[in-house]
Amino acid sequence: MHYIALATICLLASGINAAPAETKYLRTDDLPKCPKDADQAGDCIKLIMNELIPRLRLGDPELGIEPYDPFVIDRLSFQYSSGAVNGKISVRNVKLYGFAEHTIEKVNVKVNGDKVKLRTVSHIPKMNIFGDYKAELQVNSLQLKPKGTFNVTLFDVENRVVMDGEFFSKDGLRFLRLKDIEANPTVRDMVIKANGIFPDPELDELAVSVANSYWRDIYGIILPETRQSWAPVMLRLINAALQHVPIDQFIQPSE
Ligand SMILES: *[C@@H]1O[C@H](CO)[C@@H](O)[C@H](O)[C@H]1NC(C)=O
Repeated sequence: MHYIALATICLLASGINAAPAETKYLRTDDLPKCPKDADQAGDCIKLIMNELIPRLRLGDPELGIEPYDPFVIDRLSFQYSSGAVNGKISVRNVKLYGFAEHTIEKVNVKVNGDKVKLRTVSHIPKMNIFGDYKAELQVNSLQLKPKGTFNVTLFDVENRVVMDGEFFSKDGLRFLRLKDIEANPTVRDMVIKANGIFPDPELDELAVSVANSYWRDIYGIILPETRQSWAPVMLRLINAALQHVPIDQFIQPSE
């Protein structure tokens, strides 16, 4: 039962550079070894994740792990098209603060042959996301080209993640690769600050105040709509990190 590499999924926020010519592997002799039986390993994996998340916050260049608190996004854009609203939104120079305060509350693992299913429930008390944005929107017959800065604070982000993966071998060691990831973050409260929505400052203020009143609706639309933008990026980052993490070191040896 070789499911423990999942422990390192907490690296999911790490940006990864091209791997160095000779791959260095994550070695963590000071961490616990988990039971072989996946059904009994949840709490142990949770412990390892909660140990590694704050430890790796500054990244590890030799493992190709970039710092993830703040997590920096140079550029990301997505197309939006639904009902009365169509357009394109791009963000630049985005910084996300809060990932190192991520606490894993629950871990559930199922292993079936080489296939793995991992479910986690986690909590981030506060996240701050800011950067520059630019959009071209068509709202009914209205053309908008807002451009400015934004600063969004999220409180009590509760995240339920389901990951599907499989084991594979390389250099005589075993690793895990993810095939799919599904995340359902809910947020208790959100404060949105932005400028540049309208050229007129009073209208601008009004728009931000409306956004703050309706953030639940906005969030409910944006999250699923942007999934096809962020899900492949997450998968790529996690899988790049997992290539540096041989999993057997986390599992109790056979009697
Ligand atoms: C964003 O807003 C938060 C909370 O209001 C504030 O603490 C932080 O300094 C702001 N950051 C920037 C870059 O404006």
